[in-house]
Amino acid sequence: MSRDKVFATRQLPSATLERLSAHCELEVWEDFMPPDYEVILRKVGQLSGLISLLTDRIDAQLMDAGPGLKVISNMAVGYDNIDVAAANERGIPVGNTPGVLTETTADFAFALLMAVARRIPEAKQYIQAGKWRTWHPTVLSGQDIYGATLGIVGCGRIGKAMARRAAGFNMRLLVNSLEDADEISAIGGDKVSLDELLRESDFVSLHVPLTDDTYHLIGKDELAAMKPSSMLINTARGGVVDPAALYEALRDGEILAAGLDVTEPEPIALDDPLLSLDNCLVAPHIASASVATRSKMAEMAADNLIAGLAGQPLPTCVNPEVY
Ligand code: GLV
Repeated sequence: MSRDKVFATRQLPSATLERLSAHCELEVWEDFMPPDYEVILRKVGQLSGLISLLTDRIDAQLMDAGPGLKVISNMAVGYDNIDVAAANERGIPVGNTPGVLTETTADFAFALLMAVARRIPEAKQYIQAGKWRTWHPTVLSGQDIYGATLGIVGCGRIGKAMARRAAGFNMRLLVNSLEDADEISAIGGDKVSLDELLRESDFVSLHVPLTDDTYHLIGKDELAAMKPSSMLINTARGGVVDPAALYEALRDGEILAAGLDVTEPEPIALDDPLLSLDNCLVAPHIASASVATRSKMAEMAADNLIAGLAGQPLPTCVNPEVY
């Protein structure tokens, strides 16, 4: 009996690859850069399974070119790179990797918050520029975190993990999300409108998925509503924030600073105006990048793929309605 063919669009930890190889005929894309869309399109006709990353666009055309596809396993919690409605129509289960990256991602969101509040990247540049000549009462003064107000937009797993960190810093917590007010008060927060959250928060941290409803959720008007002393942290998806409006708000002092792990587009262009600003810290989409968490994500992606090939429900399926 011929074995199921599977394509993984990037190298995974060797233990995961070995496990996968026991279940299928596995081809792995070896390059550092992802395969072009056309490469996946050419291969998909032969495939029963696909392990994709958030850099791979998996759309209806691609699914139609792969009539034998039994499963798409995305190694990420977010799946805005996949047309899930198209997968539903074709009965293809789609897997993701929630849970294992929650704490690691919240650690990074809080690290960004602290870095911009206390101006840590600027401090390094200050020393490298030879400016540290004495202790000075006002040099590189930042904003207090302890006791400040944190606004969390989107309070799923990662938003709640952010709330737990905020409790340790005695922060007042405002939350704008779909969860009900009791659930928000159980984590020490007050459920408020987005407008109230923006007006009152010292830090606004974004934790919503990217959908048609959240695209450019934070634009010119929302940034104008924020306090001039406030900071925006985005570890969700770049498309949740309008980058042109953010640049103007940071440049004109409408808000104090921003910490971004995600940008629109990704990667950010080297001549993007946001990179010219001292008050904008940009990281290359690494919030879930701890060694342990990335291995767990790969293992989960493998679990989903193996279940899908066997015709079993995926352990973490974003579209269980296909069953
Ligand atoms: C990373 O952004 C993820 O969605 O896992």
